[in-house]
Amino acid sequence: MLNGKRILLIVAGGIAAFKSLELIRRLRERGASVRCVVTENGARFVTPLSLQALSEDRVYSDMFSLTDESEMGHIQLSRDADLLVVAPATANLLARMAGGLADDLAATVLLATDKPVLVAPAMNVRMWTHAATMANVETLKRRGIHFIGPNEGAMACNEHGPGRMSEPEEIADAIERLLSPAQPLAGRRAVVTSGPTREAIDPVRYISNHSSGKQGHAIASALAALGAEVTLVSGPVSLADPPGVRAVHVESADQMLAACLAAGTLDIAVCAAAVADWKAAHQANAKIKKKPGAAPPALELTPNPDILATLSKPGPNRPTLVIGFAAETEDLVANAIEKRKRKGCDWILANDVSPETGTFGGERNTVHLVTASGVEDWPTLGKSEVALRLADRVVRFFGGPTRAEAAE
Ligand code: CTP
Repeated sequence: MLNGKRILLIVAGGIAAFKSLELIRRLRERGASVRCVVTENGARFVTPLSLQALSEDRVYSDMFSLTDESEMGHIQLSRDADLLVVAPATANLLARMAGGLADDLAATVLLATDKPVLVAPAMNVRMWTHAATMANVETLKRRGIHFIGPNEGAMACNEHGPGRMSEPEEIADAIERLLSPAQPLAGRRAVVTSGPTREAIDPVRYISNHSSGKQGHAIASALAALGAEVTLVSGPVSLADPPGVRAVHVESADQMLAACLAAGTLDIAVCAAAVADWKAAHQANAKIKKKPGAAPPALELTPNPDILATLSKPGPNRPTLVIGFAAETEDLVANAIEKRKRKGCDWILANDVSPETGTFGGERNTVHLVTASGVEDWPTLGKSEVALRLADRVVRFFGGPTRAEAAE
């Protein structure tokens, strides 16, 4: 996957630096070697010793250390890498990069490099949304710097919003995308639905579910990494749009279906969204008010369209490969086998979404792939790994080499 790739990881000073340790582990698991540069402030959050232990390489921090320069000058550091990754990237480091400063080893390496650079910002939401940071990001993007995240969510500073560094697995996927020359799905068009839908009752209330969109987004990302042209149709989630996909943001099931149908002729459709089965039969135009002494209002529901079944309908416009999920809490595989037939799709990924499995909103998933030829039990994997495995199966379906075969 990342066999033989050399990553230079630059760790700046932010609380998210602890995730860089996990990132090193993930990258090495995928076959990459990792060498670290840590800024002075970065070293306040993670010790160079931890970085060294996990990367099994020496850690660089001081531009003027004679040993560093004699063994490995700053130019050589970037020359010896296939990709530079800045994780976490602070507002300060982004500003220094945008301004072309070379006032420490990290900034100097970034200024001196001609290699691709991937940046994973992490900072307080106000710092991220500040006009100065936004302008710096814009400048860097124009110069071809790649960005991943930040994600939205609760932050260490007790605020909520965009600013959390992307998860190590997401960053590792993005690195793989940037470095992976294999594009066996080039020319294939895919739509992926993801996240929950939100069905309005009135302008302030809605029906929805716990889907986080992590699995669907990871699938969109994995297909795009293999060269597919992906439209991601997402319900409301707090995830950043994965790089390399065309994201369409919707709220309701009706909008999700319309966006899928508008995606044009497709080779692949993956329905990973947790679509609400019902919507309010009558959506109130104004907030429904409590009337003193009156009984609570009855909520009449009406079925939503079934997006997976609609896309699976035989006909000239049917995508060649339609894949659904079966979210079950009992009789997992039996229900999934029945669901595949009922919906008319080609494959179903069955997953247990009982609360104790932690699937909804969690990082991992245990799936069973149900096809016309049988059931395959997959081990418990990170959602990105599930996505990569599925993408590999899709490649094989279309007759191309899988990642493992391409790497041989
Ligand atoms: N799905 C869809 N549109 C719907 C309902 C579901 O596209 N209105 C898709 C989901 O994205 C998933 C598959 O159908 O790929 C199965 O979803 P699931 O919630 O497991 O099944 P349901 O069809 O809702 O059936 P049930 O609630 O009876 O299990």
